[in-house]
Amino acid sequence: PPLSSIINLDDFEQAFAKAGAQKANAYISGASNDLLTLNANKTFWQKLWFRPRVMRNVDVISTKMKMMGCEVAMPVWICPMGIAKTAGPEGERALGAGAAASGIVHCMSTAASMGVEEILSSAPKTHPFFFQLYVDRQRHKTEAVLAQLNKLDQIKALFITADLAVVSKREADERIRTQEITSVYSSQEKSRIDKKGAGLARTTGGFIDPALNWDDIAWVRKHTNLPIVIKGIQSAADARMAMEMGCQGIVISNHGGRALDNAPATILALLEIRRDCPEVFDKLEVHIDGGVRRGSDILKAVCLGAHGVGVGRPFQCSVLYDTEGVETAAAIIQDELETAMRLCGVTDLEKVRGDMSYLNTSELE
Ligand code: FNR
Repeated sequence: PPLSSIINLDDFEQAFAKAGAQKANAYISGASNDLLTLNANKTFWQKLWFRPRVMRNVDVISTKMKMMGCEVAMPVWICPMGIAKTAGPEGERALGAGAAASGIVHCMSTAASMGVEEILSSAPKTHPFFFQLYVDRQRHKTEAVLAQLNKLDQIKALFITADLAVVSKREADERIRTQEITSVYSSQEKSRIDKKGAGLARTTGGFIDPALNWDDIAWVRKHTNLPIVIKGIQSAADARMAMEMGCQGIVISNHGGRALDNAPATILALLEIRRDCPEVFDKLEVHIDGGVRRGSDILKAVCLGAHGVGVGRPFQCSVLYDTEGVETAAAIIQDELETAMRLCGVTDLEKVRGDMSYLNTSELE
């Protein structure tokens, strides 16, 4: 389908399902086991209703916010996703260039299909990026990555992924057997079929260290000057741990339903943290991802207290259309966000962070 026919984020995923390679689609669209968490992420956003205000002069509005010290056009970041070249030949370069053109941040993955410096070169030298870290079983490899990042001032935060101690069971991905080796990794072995099948995620994720634990924050801290953000927080107790360990942020995430199936929808985890550990929202930056598909979801997240929101699969699928696709996806979110703000009576996104008066959460209580 031509890019001009795409008018919302779901269209990108559908276009990719039609036009992308079958194996790539199984990898990108897939999730764990019965896809329960994948589907819950999205449906729970839809159960949050607005409490709109009217007659407020919404002619001029602002979606600008600050995340990890970076000024952004809107509080949206492109989630770290492995091997973006499976989606289009430009891969992460399209994500980096598209993010920069749209004034948002791309969080690059440890499992990217190209090196950090090549991804950075897709954007102007002043444009910020985040880096997502999977800690390697061979810790010296992670130390080398951190040393490299310390020299690159475009990288503004380190997102340590905590919700994938082992790679989960992704059945759509396992079922399609292919010998294809999709990329060269910095620290991983090449993808190959093993006796459990041909899942790209599993066969490339074996380097992730299942021994990772809270004591390791001190070790990471010794090797980086970057703000540390723990990605994959799913309970108030762990949000509190991240705060007590001196982390600078958390991402409430279940890996887009790709880690533990039956993990709660991220909105439910956020509400638990608001209830049982509200101080996290003042002491740390709180981000959320999973199933965000509408600009209005960004407004909901900010009213719930989020500093930023990650969007994954639609951006990965937009790489099918290179940088223009990524820019289009961002422009759609920006436009939907502005429309939702105006219709809700919100003029400045920054000022409504944590303001629940615009939300009706009764369906979630
Ligand atoms: C991911 N995700 C992910 N997370 C991470 O920390 N490191 C990674 O390398 C990857 N790789 C990856 C690949 C693909 C194809 C997908 C779809 C996802 C998880 C990702 O960062 C994010 O948490 C979810 O994708 C958010 O959910 P939505 O927006 O895709 O529903």
